[in-house]
Amino acid sequence: MNLKIICAILATSLCVSAESVYKQRFLEQYNKMHDPSNGYFSPKGIPYHAVETLIVESSDYGHETTSEAHSYYIWLESMYGGITNDFSKFNEAWEIMEKYIIPVHESQPNTDLYNHSHPAGYGPGGDYPSDYPMAPVNPPAPVGIDPLYEELVETYNTSDIYAMHWLTDVDNIYGFGNSPGNCQLGPSEPGPSFINTYQRGPRETAFKTIPQPTCDNFKYGGKMGFGDLFSIGDHAPNWKYSVAPDADARAIQAAFWASRWATAAGKLDQIKDTLSKASKLGDYLRYCFFDKYFKRIGNCIDPYKCPGGTGRDSAHYLLGWFFGWGGSIAKEYGYSWRISEGVAHFGYQNPMAAYALINEPHMTPKAPSAVGDWEKSLERQLELYEYLQSKEGAFAGGVNNNWNDRYEDPPEEIKANTFHGMWYSWEPVSYDPPSNQWFGMQPWSTDRLAQYYYVTGDEKVKKVLDKWVGWILKETTFSGNSFQMPSTLDWEGVPPNVHCKVVYYGNGVGPAAATARALSYYAAKSGNQEAKNLAKKLLDSLWENNRDEIGVTVEEQPDYHFNQSVYVPEGWTGVYPNGDVINSSATFVSIRSFYKKDPQWGKIEEYLNGGPAPKFSYHRFWDQTDVALAFGAYGLLFNE
Ligand SMILES: *[C@@H]1O[C@H](CO)[C@@H](O)[C@H](O)[C@H]1NC(C)=O
Ligand SMILES: *[C@@H]1O[C@H](CO)[C@@H](O)[C@H](O)[C@H]1NC(C)=O
Ligand SMILES: *[C@@H]1O[C@H](CO)[C@@H](O)[C@H](O)[C@H]1NC(C)=O
Ligand SMILES: *[C@@H]1O[C@H](CO)[C@@H](O)[C@H](O)[C@H]1NC(C)=O
Repeated sequence: MNLKIICAILATSLCVSAESVYKQRFLEQYNKMHDPSNGYFSPKGIPYHAVETLIVESSDYGHETTSEAHSYYIWLESMYGGITNDFSKFNEAWEIMEKYIIPVHESQPNTDLYNHSHPAGYGPGGDYPSDYPMAPVNPPAPVGIDPLYEELVETYNTSDIYAMHWLTDVDNIYGFGNSPGNCQLGPSEPGPSFINTYQRGPRETAFKTIPQPTCDNFKYGGKMGFGDLFSIGDHAPNWKYSVAPDADARAIQAAFWASRWATAAGKLDQIKDTLSKASKLGDYLRYCFFDKYFKRIGNCIDPYKCPGGTGRDSAHYLLGWFFGWGGSIAKEYGYSWRISEGVAHFGYQNPMAAYALINEPHMTPKAPSAVGDWEKSLERQLELYEYLQSKEGAFAGGVNNNWNDRYEDPPEEIKANTFHGMWYSWEPVSYDPPSNQWFGMQPWSTDRLAQYYYVTGDEKVKKVLDKWVGWILKETTFSGNSFQMPSTLDWEGVPPNVHCKVVYYGNGVGPAAATARALSYYAAKSGNQEAKNLAKKLLDSLWENNRDEIGVTVEEQPDYHFNQSVYVPEGWTGVYPNGDVINSSATFVSIRSFYKKDPQWGKIEEYLNGGPAPKFSYHRFWDQTDVALAFGAYGLLFNE
């Protein structure tokens, strides 16, 4: 028998190798990630944020995981289906996600006590170490009506929310034992354990956070758990979750491709149930479309003067930075609340997910108004890319309905050219570092736009992409086969005259791979040979220069502040399950003493004692998946 016939019968990864170099590279990277000895997954099959434990970025420990990692895992398995015709792994990745990072019914009690005419009391948020937004003001400021609640309850016969909480402590290193369906079972639980970190506004870096359980029954922390540390209004045992909408959208986007590839393979039936779950995620993801307190979108200045919205006048329809929900643990005097997000970053937008929810069979959400909402969202997202595109081609920050998180009055130059009455900001969500400084947001988001163009052929989108691709072609250079591309960006001006300046160049593997992927989808539709060549050169460079035994990586020197002091009000004292004390002398590492037992701790200690800044070669789940997906996409699109 010749190889083709064997392949037709077996449909295994063995065969792909014979057809396509780049599909084969996808599989090699895929197999490394799935080799249990390489450490990408927990014993329960949960993808860790990174193989390495000592890593602090937006999450504060490598063996935590995020909704981001889960969404990448689903995408990885979707493409595995596209390349091998085996879609069982895609279903499995969704099940793992659903089981371990979407709160179950028992983990979100009293959602039926939610008053959708009063989603949450307005409280001024903003700068660290000021109050957490949930501390209400007196007299109360107007808030709007949540227009989704009733139809979601009617559609799904539950008041629960189906969305990923952004962060879990996979190995229960903090010891809260806040496992699905339970509240603080303690250190003997094997994990995962739901936690939160950020609580104090845009200047709070991971190094300044005080991790807390999502379910706080006052067993750990201070006399009233952790809530009073952040001046949260909750003075009764309570729970709360935070959603990172880009991750939920990425899972939906991954499901879209699974749908396309399974259809091509005649296997759509095998994934129908998962697709319907993706559509359900899309139904609830609409919670990020609104102003934080469901106030009016546009010219919303002064918490007392800007009115609460009714119907959709509180909707900006963009993928906001966040949404959250919470409530009391006890039924008696019980309550429940929801907040959305009046701040949208271009980097979170996902026109591919919106397109899927509108058009893809088995993916249109069940709630009656959902498709209409996603249609508006798609249009609004595409408009946002145009509004934010700099003269150079890169996309500047985002837009904001809630200036300084206190509905303040923005400067005149910002008010001169609004986006549906919302204001431009190049650092819409955090200042430290500013949230559009990181280059990776560019290819992450543009890749989705390029996929949308690949699927629809939308000429208006092509024009936007032409400019972005022109910028990348100009800003990427090679010496030999090693590349340099932007890593840190700075911004000047306001739309329509924003300028982007590259401050530093670098060679991060994930952003390079995501760039190659964006270029590949763009080139496959437009026929642009230069874009295709650059994609191939980047991929070949990653393959030749950055492979190691367990993945693809590059050495980096992170900016680490293990001695960073953590703000705790004078006199407040609390304790972690392992005995670490939280008081006004706290530092990042004093409330994370487990780090002192980490295999890499020696490097940090040497640095703290005046030694050189340590270097690491990390294997982040998203970085590794971005690389795999870029190879797979190139192989699938060009069959090379
Ligand atoms: C719900 O909120 C509205 C608006 O604030 C209020 O008028 C109403 O009394 C609340 N309903 C309940 C049951 O608390
Ligand atoms: C709705 O949910 C309730 C409570 O879980 C259940 O008793 C009831 O049978 C459900 N109704 C339908 C139509 O599924
Ligand atoms: C905080 O707790 C640590 C550990 O118990 C202790 O050494 C330190 O003196 C305390 N600081 C304050 C301000 O109480
Ligand atoms: C930081 O921590 C190290 C090791 O624990 C200690 O020796 C050093 O004095 C600390 N430095 C500062 C500035 O607190």
